[in-house]
Amino acid sequence: MAKDNIVVGLDVGTTKVAVTVGLPVEGLIKIIGYSKTPNAGMRKGTVVDVEDTVSAISLALEEAERMAGTPITSVFVSIGGNNIISTLSKGVIAVSRADGEVTRSDTQRVIEAAKSVALPPNREIIHCIPKNFSVDAQSGIPDPVGMNGIRLETQAIVIGAATSTVGNLSKCLHQAGVNIDGMVFNGLASSKALLTKKQKEMGVMLVDIGGGTTSIAIFEEGDLSHAAVIPIGSMHITNDIAIGLRTSLEMAEKIKVQYGSAMPATISESEKINMSAIDPQDKQRIERRYLAEIIHARTMEILNLIREELKKIGRDGMLPAGVVLTGGGSKLEDLVELAKEELRLPVEVGMPVVDIDGLVDKIADGVYSTSVGLMLYGLENPGEAIHLSTDGMVDKAKSFLKQFLP
Ligand SMILES: Nc1ncnc2c1ncn2[C@@H]1O[C@H](COP(=O)(O)OP(=O)(O)OP(=O)(O)O)[C@@H](O)[C@H]1O
Ligand SMILES: [Mg+2]
Repeated sequence: MAKDNIVVGLDVGTTKVAVTVGLPVEGLIKIIGYSKTPNAGMRKGTVVDVEDTVSAISLALEEAERMAGTPITSVFVSIGGNNIISTLSKGVIAVSRADGEVTRSDTQRVIEAAKSVALPPNREIIHCIPKNFSVDAQSGIPDPVGMNGIRLETQAIVIGAATSTVGNLSKCLHQAGVNIDGMVFNGLASSKALLTKKQKEMGVMLVDIGGGTTSIAIFEEGDLSHAAVIPIGSMHITNDIAIGLRTSLEMAEKIKVQYGSAMPATISESEKINMSAIDPQDKQRIERRYLAEIIHARTMEILNLIREELKKIGRDGMLPAGVVLTGGGSKLEDLVELAKEELRLPVEVGMPVVDIDGLVDKIADGVYSTSVGLMLYGLENPGEAIHLSTDGMVDKAKSFLKQFLP
């Protein structure tokens, strides 16, 4: 039987497609289905093989539908990859009512005005999130509706993605037979699931270490202030292990998960790993410390690039609520300790902070953060969904018409 009010998060990641199905019940979101399927159709967060991606999405949806006992017709989907850009933009309009009272349609118009920012060629806007508003000379207003003035201004953060990435992703969803309720930057989605209001007020950075990419979202004074994607993820660590230990990628992945550590200094030089414990054919014995050295080198590269993003906004070592890690890559042993040292900030692995019910323990894992966050984003922004036609172009007419609605 179809359940009308379900909200579905579909995270199309470089290594897997994850689906979570939520049913809003009395202020809680009850998880009634979830699934995870390996995805071979992506590189570094973008679709490179439509057929493979469509089959991973279809399989994941089928499994989630079976568990939830309801068909899935539309989803909130994640977008990532280093085609993602973020920039600040200012929008200014004249307040429309003769008596000078700011209305909801004024705030929508000023956000539209902020969208007229010049993005690099072949990019389109995924999000335009106002940081705050100014009415005449008064600035720092979170919600200006009901205030009086002549001029309404906003400072917004605009997140854009490559038109081709948006097009290919929407094509995959349409071929898998589902409509898109909204397309959400994966770092922003994960932050919905993991960050508290208080952390966002204090200043916090969400770092989602996936397979092919590391997505970043920084919040200050409650609002998103910076977003970025580093084109390196945990699969790069696996590749380095395969090269360094001369093993297959499958073997390297198992070694990383079972014996990996980001801190060689904590491992005794005499500690050895018998590879036969993973593959009986393999008689090698390797030094665990050497394995950690390989992992350490790549992890340091990722941490340095994260630090560069903090430097870009003048917050190196200066975010009071620190760093919240998620994504499969965040499960690496000793990563939290290394990140604390290198970033000189408090660091923790995130846990869902929202009220969820149902199959909660099954999805309390970094690989589901984006998917859970997508559902929450969907519940908060049902009307804000961008609508994509079959060719993947954002339906500009709808957002244009929206400004005339009350
Ligand atoms: N226990 C673990 N220790 C270290 N790494 C792990 C562990 N478990 C999973 N990983 C790594 O996490 C990665 C997958 O994470 P995740 O599912 O978040 O990526 P994704 O969403 O598919 O990719 P992306 O976000 O880059 O598109 C894999 O590279 C995997 O090796
Ligand atoms: Mg991911």
